[in-house]
Amino acid sequence: MTRVFSGIKPTGHLTLGNYLGAVRQWAAVDQHRAESLFCVVDLHALTVEHDPARVRRLSRQAATLLLAAGLDPRVCTLFVQSHVDEHTRLAYLLECTAADGEMRRMVQYKEKAAREQRRGGSVRLSLLTYPVLMAADILAYGADEVPVGDDQAQHVELTRDLAVRFNHRYGPVFTVPRAVLPQVAARVMNLQDPGSKMGKSEDTGPGIVYLLDEPEVVRRKVLRAVTDSGQDVAYDPQERPGVANLLEILAACTGRAPQDLAAGYDSYGALKKDTAEAVVEELRPLRERHAELVADPGYVDGVLREGAERARALARPTVDAAYRAIGLLPPG
Ligand code: TYM
Repeated sequence: MTRVFSGIKPTGHLTLGNYLGAVRQWAAVDQHRAESLFCVVDLHALTVEHDPARVRRLSRQAATLLLAAGLDPRVCTLFVQSHVDEHTRLAYLLECTAADGEMRRMVQYKEKAAREQRRGGSVRLSLLTYPVLMAADILAYGADEVPVGDDQAQHVELTRDLAVRFNHRYGPVFTVPRAVLPQVAARVMNLQDPGSKMGKSEDTGPGIVYLLDEPEVVRRKVLRAVTDSGQDVAYDPQERPGVANLLEILAACTGRAPQDLAAGYDSYGALKKDTAEAVVEELRPLRERHAELVADPGYVDGVLREGAERARALARPTVDAAYRAIGLLPPG
């Protein structure tokens, strides 16, 4: 059976980008067709300036939202990365497989390192090695597929390179995974700045729809989205990124193609109004289920405990095999 692994980082409140680009596919499709593992990757949240209490809070919130979005612990495994030691055990071996230069070429590293420096902070070494830990997340489970948004494609490519290189040098330990991107909304853009991604770690609140925003807030944000100077509604991501972004969001919520949707509108106002309502409706069940789950934290903790046990059992044989293959003496 195909095995799927994906993760989400608790560095901020989950956004519509996370949902349309990744989480929705996990819940609606992946968990039902593949042996699936989904992980709140809390160690990744330590790679930039962080507040310990906030990371803890956001980790539980992310897990709760994933359940609210429809992940079903009876058919998939949901767990927290730091609960399973195999990730960091394997990351070190992959650091011994990766080269400094290939880490420095990662687009997200360059962007995030520049941002940390602009804020006057230092760049943590873990920010540079982040993609290696991500590769360990994936390779520890022998995942075939990694459903992610477009911004993670380069990291999955690196994961493939590391798997191939390790297997070639030390023997066939790892499955070589591939990224699976959604057909629409693989890169949801910031509503106030359609040139940049809608990211949960950014501070530009008005351009970001958070999954727990009240319906009124969602409507306001979508209605105030920056559009382009043209008048007619056309799907042209290069020339009209603001309108294309709204069309993609609406397409993702309605299951129609952005080009077809564009033909049905003759004003930006009408497009914004329909998009706002579609997003509110898309998020409604999630918000309701989230409210129920928050009232039952013991349930969420139990899911994460069982998830970590299952994950550990799956990862250990592969990570042990990697330790042997690379030349480490097994304990007697
Ligand atoms: P993270 O936490 O930034 O995002 C989680 C998922 O949401 C997708 N995503 C988006 N998709 C479309 N439009 C957007 N604006 C948008 N913003 C985020 C991301 O592509 C991702 O799929 N490094 C990863 C976490 C990670 C991981 C892994 C993922 C760690 N280990 C192993 C897969 C497999 C990250 O920072 O995702």
